[in-house]
Amino acid sequence: MAHRRLQLAAVLALAAFAVAQARQISHLPDAPAMCPLEMRKNTRWGVATASYQVEGGWNLGGRTPSVWDTFSHAGFIKNNDTGDVACDMYHKYPQDFKLMRELGIKHYRFSFSWNRILPQGGKGTPVNPEGIAFYNSLINEMIANNIRPYATIFHWDLPQVLQDKYQGLIGEEFIADFVNYANVLFENFGDRIRDWMTFNEPWVTCVLQYGQGVFAPGIPMGDEGMYKCGHNLLRAHAKTYQLYHKVPQAKLDNVTFADAARGKVGIALNIEYLEPLTEAKEDVAAANYGLEKNLGWFADPLFFGDYPASLKSCAKDVLPSFTAEESKLLKGSLDFLGINFYTGKFAKGSATDKCSVETREQDVNGKDIGPLAESSWLRVVPWSFYKLLKYVQSRYDPKQIIITENGVSAPKEDSMSVQQAIRDDFRVNYYKGYLDYLCKAISEGVKVNTYFAWSFMDNFEWREGYSQRFGINHVDFDSPELTRTTKDSGKFLSKHFFRVGRGGGVGARRPGGRKPTKETPKAAKPAKQQ
Ligand code: GAL
Repeated sequence: MAHRRLQLAAVLALAAFAVAQARQISHLPDAPAMCPLEMRKNTRWGVATASYQVEGGWNLGGRTPSVWDTFSHAGFIKNNDTGDVACDMYHKYPQDFKLMRELGIKHYRFSFSWNRILPQGGKGTPVNPEGIAFYNSLINEMIANNIRPYATIFHWDLPQVLQDKYQGLIGEEFIADFVNYANVLFENFGDRIRDWMTFNEPWVTCVLQYGQGVFAPGIPMGDEGMYKCGHNLLRAHAKTYQLYHKVPQAKLDNVTFADAARGKVGIALNIEYLEPLTEAKEDVAAANYGLEKNLGWFADPLFFGDYPASLKSCAKDVLPSFTAEESKLLKGSLDFLGINFYTGKFAKGSATDKCSVETREQDVNGKDIGPLAESSWLRVVPWSFYKLLKYVQSRYDPKQIIITENGVSAPKEDSMSVQQAIRDDFRVNYYKGYLDYLCKAISEGVKVNTYFAWSFMDNFEWREGYSQRFGINHVDFDSPELTRTTKDSGKFLSKHFFRVGRGGGVGARRPGGRKPTKETPKAAKPAKQQ
């Protein structure tokens, strides 16, 4: 009898659990109206993170400090937070990939920690076997869970030794060191990774890290430093692209990395959309110049081989110029364009100064452009996503666009209990609105085929530490296990996007897997097809 009762209790408990689950899912909104099932099926939907923000293990496995370790240890981060442990993905990645799999996630963008791979940073210094082993396990575990890896080579965490040696991105030596680092990654992981982003948000690196010095390494270098940083970064990107596509690899039977992996190299550029405040000529010109100054600074050289004419004229005293050879190398040096998109603003110009762009968050009647997130720079402006994408497609006509980041910090989430925080309607609405406009853009021919939500989980949000949460999974930073709990936004994305979206492209490629094309030199000794 007791046995029967136990059985009954178990059945009832299961039924109650199922009802609770169904309830949890049923309060989620429908898929965005402009995202038909067919489009959601044909697109790849994934999640993104970055090494310093999630990994932790800052002094483990032969890793030396990056500029963010130094900066956070010096107390520059809110609440004195550091990335020492972060989400401890260094140890917890198996459970994180399991969670991804449960949510139906088949695409994951992550970044490598340069100082874990090359503790001394530069060319000619030893590769750290423990760092290679760590990323091998990480990537293999990802693939075992049927998750395709997308790798960012540099997401702001420069080895401190290279900052000390030649001021990091300000030094000309940075170019050769970056290409060497990329080469180590291609050689060790290029058989399993087909999608590479050289740099994450060059604008942030050069404006916030070097120009203003408000991000690590925290040394303000002014406009001159800022443009020097951009110049080095762009040339390092172009050389890396060339290495991947044009240089035959001894270790791969003289086949290029690109041929061996059928892989691609791109970059992840951030941009805030600018809408003219009024129809006045100077406001329209200011919005246009703002986009050229912030996005065109990097995108124009990559697509057209040179900086925008407007920037050359406005920053003529501090903007370096490319040699004819550099220009040629830069032009067309990307297989896809990555866009990190969060928000839009109004732009106001000046009738007397064509180089002035004032950004505003209220229209002429004082009405907010959209609700404010927890981050002071982030307002919810779904339509701005559509406008930006249309602008990018018409100006650059990229072959492929990947939304490398999109997401939001929900107001006051950090002061909520776990139970409150996971009911994140604010974020659900953000995704619903932005994805709606993304789908509209796709339906009008904008070539986005892959999208990453920022972020897979709450993490170290740079200067704001753990106080601003962008995760679709909550991380309880007070619990010793750093427990992850899926938020409603994660369930919403899982139901309408991750689960239904396209997978594929996971797993190792064989060297010589594709015949050399006209653009790539013929393999001296093509690998045998097995
Ligand atoms: C991006 C950055 C990410 C993340 C996000 C939210 O600029 O690439 O690392 O922090 O913003 O602020």
